[in-house]
Amino acid sequence: MDFKTQVIGAAGLANVAADGLLVLVAGTAVPPGRDKPLAELQAAAAQDGDFALKPGQTLYAHRVAGVKAQRVLFASLAEATPKALRRALGLALGYVKSGGTRQLAVALAGDASWSGALAEALALAVSESVYLYSATKPSAPAAARLVGVSLLCAKTESAALAAGLRRGEAIAAGTRLARELANRPANHCTPTYLAEQARKRGREQGLKVEVLDRKACEKLGMGAFLAVAQGSDEPLQFIVARWQGGAKTEAPLVLVGKGITFDTGGISIKPAAEMDEMKFDMGGAASVLGTLHAVAALKAKVNLTGIIPACENMPSGRAVKPGDVVTSLSGQTIEILNTDAEGRLILCDALTYAERLKPAAVVDIATLTGACVVALGHHRSGLFSADDALAEALLKAGEAGLDPAWRMPLDDEYDEALKSHFADMANVGPRAGGAITAAMFLKRFTAKLRWAHLDIAGTAWRSGTAKGATGRPVPLLVNFVLAHAR
Ligand code: BES
Ligand code: MN
Ligand code: ZN
Repeated sequence: MDFKTQVIGAAGLANVAADGLLVLVAGTAVPPGRDKPLAELQAAAAQDGDFALKPGQTLYAHRVAGVKAQRVLFASLAEATPKALRRALGLALGYVKSGGTRQLAVALAGDASWSGALAEALALAVSESVYLYSATKPSAPAAARLVGVSLLCAKTESAALAAGLRRGEAIAAGTRLARELANRPANHCTPTYLAEQARKRGREQGLKVEVLDRKACEKLGMGAFLAVAQGSDEPLQFIVARWQGGAKTEAPLVLVGKGITFDTGGISIKPAAEMDEMKFDMGGAASVLGTLHAVAALKAKVNLTGIIPACENMPSGRAVKPGDVVTSLSGQTIEILNTDAEGRLILCDALTYAERLKPAAVVDIATLTGACVVALGHHRSGLFSADDALAEALLKAGEAGLDPAWRMPLDDEYDEALKSHFADMANVGPRAGGAITAAMFLKRFTAKLRWAHLDIAGTAWRSGTAKGATGRPVPLLVNFVLAHAR
């Protein structure tokens, strides 16, 4: 998809050359005068009861007299906010996606005017809406014919809006990559595939990529990660990918993504229903690669390192058993009471590994607990951090990216649940507060770090008829990293 700004000439919207003209009406009606044919069309539709200035209202008209574009669309939004814009665009693009529109021009009418944030939201919303998974589905419908979107604006606005579009496009590309990776079934998207993808991005975008194999992880002493991986025939991969956009001396931001390419639960095996969705258990890893992709595409002046422990969680004769005690990279021992609480086991070693990078901050991203889905549903990701400033920065980045999170507690009292008779800690507590005890487990490995944890179990994918990866929280993460870059 190609996004650009286009200056509206003196002849107004009716004279804009495009296959489709989408007029976003914010608050008040299209004023007559310059845009008379459009104002009249809207007024007539309003009079006939077919288009009101209320969110959710759309109108489609074909070959309107006096208008150059063959297709005219109106979509109403109460106010020109990124969120309202996303909703209106989602509805309006429903018409455009299946039709013949190749070039769509988008105008903002009423009292509203464009901003960089709105331009960014436009690029993101369009890209999100035309995404179609086809990697393993040859019979998928042909991709939308829409290839270009231009934002109609005044000459003085053009430069600032173009910058907003560029940001939106980069975030959209990162989100798309995350969706593609996570949607791929586990027999395609193996740990090896993830490592290959990281290397490929490395070559294309100038990331430095290093991958540790089992031997290397054994040598370092990643007993927790190795324990999860040992039940699978797929070789584990410990991926480290760096974007060096900042000064050499500048401490990097580190993102750690859970890369379980399939989670059967291991010996503590999961029930059969919906187990297919556990192919999405590498959503954290996908979001880290997506974020690196976007940050590198923008050539952001920041140092960013992604760490991805990737493996499968399988039952087998070699699999780790409930009650087994392993020694983590930190030296702390863990009694694995439930092999299905594997995410924290691979993350704890990755967090300890992150210490050696002397990071400015570390954020781990994981589809970690069903309990987080119970707590927050599918709208907000769970955010855990003992560092108020870091938590605030992440919350703010989420709001800005329409990819919101909600802060959850980390009181010491929750730590009691992890006591073990046979090791420094158990890997699970009781059911109650499961998202919090999982975070408390990770916290035990972060004493030397400025750390936050995002539980994306409820937000990384959708179930049901619209089943598929969302690419979240790439928008949150990119905004967070870019804010750090400035
Ligand atoms: N990958 C799952 C978490 C998950 C479950 C995400 C359902 C989305 C939907 C994770 O590895 C897991 O199995 N967690 C267990 C932890 C429990 C054993 C303490 C869970 O949430 O049931
Ligand atoms: Mn599990
Ligand atoms: Zn899992």
